[in-house]
Amino acid sequence: METKFSEFLRRYPDYHGTEAIDELRKREFSRLDRLGHIYVDYTGGGLFGDFQIRHHMEFLAGSVLGNPHSTNPTSALATERVVSCRKRVLEFFNADPEEYVLIFTSNASGALKLVGESYPFSEGDQFLLTFDNHNSVVGIRAFDRVKRASTQYIPVEPPDLRVPEERLRAFLEGSPESRNKLFAFPAQSNFSGVQHPLDWIREAQELGWDVLLDAAAFVPTNRLDLQKWHPDYVTLSFYKMFGYPTGVGALLARRPALQKLHRPWFAGGTISWASVLAESHTLSPGSDGFEDGTLNYTSLPAVELGLEFLDSVGVDTIHDRVNTLAGWLMDELVALRHSSGERVARIYGPIDTESRGGTVALNLYDSKGAPIDHRLVEEKANSWKISLRTGCFCNPGAGEMAMGLERDEIVGCLTRSQDRMTLDQFQQCIDDKSTGAVRISFGVASTFEDASKVLQFFQEFQEG
Ligand SMILES: Cc1ncc(COP(=O)(O)O)c(C=O)c1O
Repeated sequence: METKFSEFLRRYPDYHGTEAIDELRKREFSRLDRLGHIYVDYTGGGLFGDFQIRHHMEFLAGSVLGNPHSTNPTSALATERVVSCRKRVLEFFNADPEEYVLIFTSNASGALKLVGESYPFSEGDQFLLTFDNHNSVVGIRAFDRVKRASTQYIPVEPPDLRVPEERLRAFLEGSPESRNKLFAFPAQSNFSGVQHPLDWIREAQELGWDVLLDAAAFVPTNRLDLQKWHPDYVTLSFYKMFGYPTGVGALLARRPALQKLHRPWFAGGTISWASVLAESHTLSPGSDGFEDGTLNYTSLPAVELGLEFLDSVGVDTIHDRVNTLAGWLMDELVALRHSSGERVARIYGPIDTESRGGTVALNLYDSKGAPIDHRLVEEKANSWKISLRTGCFCNPGAGEMAMGLERDEIVGCLTRSQDRMTLDQFQQCIDDKSTGAVRISFGVASTFEDASKVLQFFQEFQEG
């Protein structure tokens, strides 16, 4: 272990600058080692430090909070905390409140749904998205209004699963002049870890596009500076950034882009005024018009604590930590061979640390080069108490590109199936290829020991 670690440090000297995280792991995340867990699913859900829950419980136990929709003292305190949290989130992303409005949602999917249901698509409009978007972005195409517009997908190309710049430009420039054009891409793919260039935002806007940046997989380990980048809509979930609380996400919208959204309904909390007799209502201006019902006001103070926690560690430090670990793990996996010479693992996406995050997707293969079912890998990982992720990670487009699936074979399986097809049936239909993958993702509490354990687990599949 000692020599392996020295060799790692020689190859990835930036890890030295992240040593504070080892201290943090002992102090704030001792439950991982006490309970014997190897947690490598940070892209699925982040982990909270003890600090966050301790301070949140102390705050709740020492306060009386009421529904923020009144002016009574308990309501006033809740309102004060909501206002303070809104301010803190904008500060964290360096967003100018004159430019951006923050809307609290239940998660990133809730934020994406707000844009999808309210963006004024109609005949002749355009919805453009990269293949590697999460289902909650792809699902926007299912709204009836969006069906009348034209939806186009920009392919990501294996092996790196990036979009060639000239391809992107052709899509952006090739769209007819239409009134409303929405371009959506993930700042970081939750499948491959690829980080797409944020320069695309300005390029697209100069060509008349509104840009939806899905930052859910990016912001837990990367700084997003909204004075440097100006996407029209940004979506994220806070539990992915710092584990607790779940059930709170955000849509950050530029003021002109927010004006463009037309809500298809109203709810308690979103209107200045409504009448049953006159069948009329007026939507509240700004964020209020988009925050349905009562906010999760007991949890918002915990969002502030989560941001404080991330700031105390430093997002750049976390970035260096996850990148060095992912880089090392990928090097080791690329070199890992069966005695037959076949590779044990094939990685989907870039295999160096350039413009990528700490998320690595792969499949394992036997000594004859046949894929090992990702579900078996998960089963075995469970018995090692390793929490990794398998499947397509709600990112079907990236999976299809990575595994070389063709449209015709997918459509063929769908037409042959009598009822609704299950994932198992789909796997049997596409029997010579994988239909899912294994994902390892590092985060705020990851250590070299975690990465080594994961490598040791994969080495168990090495034959001969
Ligand atoms: C890139 C990306 N976008 C959106 C989502 C949806 O997030 P949530 O499930 O918190 O709504 C995820 C979740 O994994 C994601 O990784």
